[in-house]
Amino acid sequence: MTGKSSEISVPELSSYLALHCHETAYRFETLIGAYLSSGSENQTGEIASQNPSKADADLLSRRIKAERLLDGIPKYIDNYMLTLLAARHPLERFDRSILRSYIGNLTAPSPRFVSWKDRQADLRDLTANEVPGTEWDKAALLSSQGASDVLKWRDVPVFKPASDMMIYAMLLFELKPATIVEFGTGHGGSTGFMSDLAQLFGLDCDLHSVDRTGKVPEGFHTNAKHHIADCLQWVRDELPKLRLARPCLFIEDFHEKTDDFLNLLVPNLDVGDYLVIEDSFIKQAALDRFLREHTEVLIDTFYTDFFGVNCTSAVNSILSVQSEMTRSPSSTSSKSQTTQGGRPG
Ligand SMILES: C[S@@+](CC[C@H](N)C(=O)[O-])C[C@H]1O[C@@H](n2cnc3c(N)ncnc32)[C@H](O)[C@@H]1O
Repeated sequence: MTGKSSEISVPELSSYLALHCHETAYRFETLIGAYLSSGSENQTGEIASQNPSKADADLLSRRIKAERLLDGIPKYIDNYMLTLLAARHPLERFDRSILRSYIGNLTAPSPRFVSWKDRQADLRDLTANEVPGTEWDKAALLSSQGASDVLKWRDVPVFKPASDMMIYAMLLFELKPATIVEFGTGHGGSTGFMSDLAQLFGLDCDLHSVDRTGKVPEGFHTNAKHHIADCLQWVRDELPKLRLARPCLFIEDFHEKTDDFLNLLVPNLDVGDYLVIEDSFIKQAALDRFLREHTEVLIDTFYTDFFGVNCTSAVNSILSVQSEMTRSPSSTSSKSQTTQGGRPG
């Protein structure tokens, strides 16, 4: 390498570095781009101004085919990336950016469980998206619970995006919760959905749902206990009396006093338990206040980002307890647990 370093372009530097190790030039371009985009020179993510070289593109296509396709079958996103890598014309900005993040994930996958603080740093460049902090576009988000009628499970309304339904199906199968508690029963469609899944998966699972009103259709649930109560009061007064089998999945879908709820509920959680805070676009500040302090609770990005970054109602808030909670003496005394099942790996 000769001349002053300021005269070397990012692609040139990347190719030079790639000659000296097993990484591809495109990988270096991605890393340098990400580094520079955190500085003032590049707030728009325009660094990777070129397509990957043909050699890099071929190498990456082979990796995608080997590592991402299942029996040769691509998902939409794999197919799109293979098309971009085969393109011999300059890519549009959106395509460069989505290719960069896809390849970044292929070559250096991020950890699954991340702290609240790290997550904020990871997502700082997502502010320009249609729905900031997510990869959702506005129209898809607005219609995600149904554009005309509301999503239904066995003809009972469920106020969740369709993506969340599948996230819960996968989470239930992986976590195998021995207890599910949903705060905010609504019409009961969602508790009914969990109840049916638990039965289908052969789980020995106690279900509880809490709501101040009781609109659940007669006979709809097979295996759920409905508590007519204020959620905060129930957590404070009734939850400690229950002997909850572990692991537990708690779902917050009643949307009141998030700070109080987190402070009351979370000390009752054990390692391996999950807490999903739904519709959390408007709860980010409360989550920030709580989770910066409680580093035992991590975000499970496998699920929050399954359909694209935060394409779920639980924005940054599919939470997993990964180490012992700091408990006040009163929060531990009245609860005894049996440990069942395993923590997802
Ligand atoms: C969005 S709905 C729940 C939807 C349901 N989880 C689903 O997915 O279909 C919210 C529910 O929370 C209940 N709710 C709101 N504040 C509450 C509180 N403080 N205590 C108990 N229930 C409450 C309302 O009565 C309403 O039924």
